[in-house]
Amino acid sequence: MCGIVGYIGREAAAPILLDGLQRLEYRGYDSAGIAVHSEQNGLQIVKTKGRLQALVDIVSTGKPLTGTMGIGHTRWATHGEPSDENSHPHVSEDGRIAVVHNGIIENYIQIKEFLQGKGVQFRSQTDTEVIAHLLEYYYDGDILQAVASVLHIIEGSYALGIICAEESSRLIAARKDSPLILGYSEKGSFLASDVTAIIRHTRDVSYMEDGEIAVLDENGIRVFNTMLESVEKEHSFVDWEVSAAEKGGYEHFMFKEIMEQPEAIRKTAFSRIVDGRIVFEGLHLNEEFIQSLKKIHIIACGSSYHVGMVGKCNLERLLRIPVEVSLASEFRYAEPILDQDDLVIVISQSGETLDTMAAMREASRLGARTLAIVNVVGSSIAKQAHDVLYTWAGPEIAVATTKAYSTQLVLLNMLGIYFADVRGSLAPAEYDRLIRELLELPAKMEQLLEKNGDIQYYASRYFNHESVFFIGRNLDYALSLEGSLKLKEISYIHSEAYAAGELKHGTISLIVPGTLVVAVGTYGKLFDKAMSNVIEVKARGADVLALTTEDRAPEMAKYVDAVLTVPSADDLFLPNLGVVPLQLFAYYVALHRGCDIDKPRNLAKSVTVE
Ligand code: G6P
Repeated sequence: MCGIVGYIGREAAAPILLDGLQRLEYRGYDSAGIAVHSEQNGLQIVKTKGRLQALVDIVSTGKPLTGTMGIGHTRWATHGEPSDENSHPHVSEDGRIAVVHNGIIENYIQIKEFLQGKGVQFRSQTDTEVIAHLLEYYYDGDILQAVASVLHIIEGSYALGIICAEESSRLIAARKDSPLILGYSEKGSFLASDVTAIIRHTRDVSYMEDGEIAVLDENGIRVFNTMLESVEKEHSFVDWEVSAAEKGGYEHFMFKEIMEQPEAIRKTAFSRIVDGRIVFEGLHLNEEFIQSLKKIHIIACGSSYHVGMVGKCNLERLLRIPVEVSLASEFRYAEPILDQDDLVIVISQSGETLDTMAAMREASRLGARTLAIVNVVGSSIAKQAHDVLYTWAGPEIAVATTKAYSTQLVLLNMLGIYFADVRGSLAPAEYDRLIRELLELPAKMEQLLEKNGDIQYYASRYFNHESVFFIGRNLDYALSLEGSLKLKEISYIHSEAYAAGELKHGTISLIVPGTLVVAVGTYGKLFDKAMSNVIEVKARGADVLALTTEDRAPEMAKYVDAVLTVPSADDLFLPNLGVVPLQLFAYYVALHRGCDIDKPRNLAKSVTVE
């Protein structure tokens, strides 16, 4: 979703802002803009609907943007269509104050009416514009004071970057429920929605907390609370390489990230296995709590929710206690019933998904213990959970998640094995066998990634279908949900995943000669049941592409049109293998259809609004 970048220092701001925005493109956006200030030219604003390249073109052909202080923004429309007027930065009526904002100002209508009553003319349909005008209303020669006053009035979520033409030596930032990172460097001070935007300039960062206001100048950054009392910030060192967030010779980030999965799993899992035992350093859950655990709730959105669906099958098998999986957006309004003996596991790659964060807070308010599985270090969910386990997948840039999904799956399985051991529901020999299987997993994935020729061929055969059904049972249903989502989000093909046994209750009426059905049948225990559903759709003329394990491929091949295989593995790890061909299939289909794979239409990487 929206991205912010800000800079004040000794170098020209515009190139730094444009480069930063380019690195935030992956978050998803529909318009972009920058504001740069210089003594000679005052506040200069350039903004436009469309891709960042359109902004770059305007900047490079227009009057040179001089100045060493500026703010930039990529907008993902919520209030008001994507348009030049609705793009950020928004400027006060007198043209002195410019604002970029991520989040939603919930009481903007009341504020707008108040300001209109004072004669203020609005230029956009956004909620953000009220901030620019309110700042002008309160501005009395001290922009920091004006920001503090405005923060007492606005409600909702925000990450803000603010500059004022009359105060050219400082840039102000503020945050509530929307991420902002401060970067410290010899060149000056940086502000960004995430580390990728500024890592080329600095690895010395700190994470703003809710209710904090930062004052950036060319020599450093001071942070205050809303009462303008000084706050000490801890610095963090970003230890991943700049190249981790670059394509490195691949055509798309998504493909690069698919290929990185074995390594991401090694990093996430292997470093937590010491002498054949799983060790979760820093986990505060004590054995007594794990032993008395009555129920687990898994809460997430999107692909992370699909990880939860796999997790339900696997954790119930390992622990023999109920596991309930909820979409975060549903959970928070469902009057959830939680107990102090319940554990709530929230899963989020970005650690910033607003619904997931709100659901986690609700769970915590109701007295449950929360444990977050998160990829982005220092993110809001990671900070607010009682416990956090990081997936060490490295930065994931493509909107469609791949390596984050895989590492989340592995970590959830490891948690299940660890809990089962503590609870005594897993025999020692079984524990050792599962650890051996886990250690073999990355090599098996590598095998799969090497032989992707078949998948490319099937993608070329099926890419022009307009509707696809994924079917599977149990673990394979959970996997189908992810395979179907991957396909629809990047190729724009209508795709649905069905529990295969449900087909007969409606969906089968949509199966006509030539309909593409992807039949996922990797789960040995239900292979025969899955086969009978395959036979049902074949009988209605479906074109069936099946996914199964190598040992079952000959049987499957008797009934279907094409078979993709994965190496055999314990059920626990089958979805980790099965997802790879489904990711590659979606990727190659999207490639054939000429889609913008890394930045699919209307989608955002980090969904920070409800
Ligand atoms: C967006 C992304 C998905 C992701 C979902 C949840 O929709 O495009 O890839 O699965 O958000 O995000 P999270 O960061 O909480 O895992």
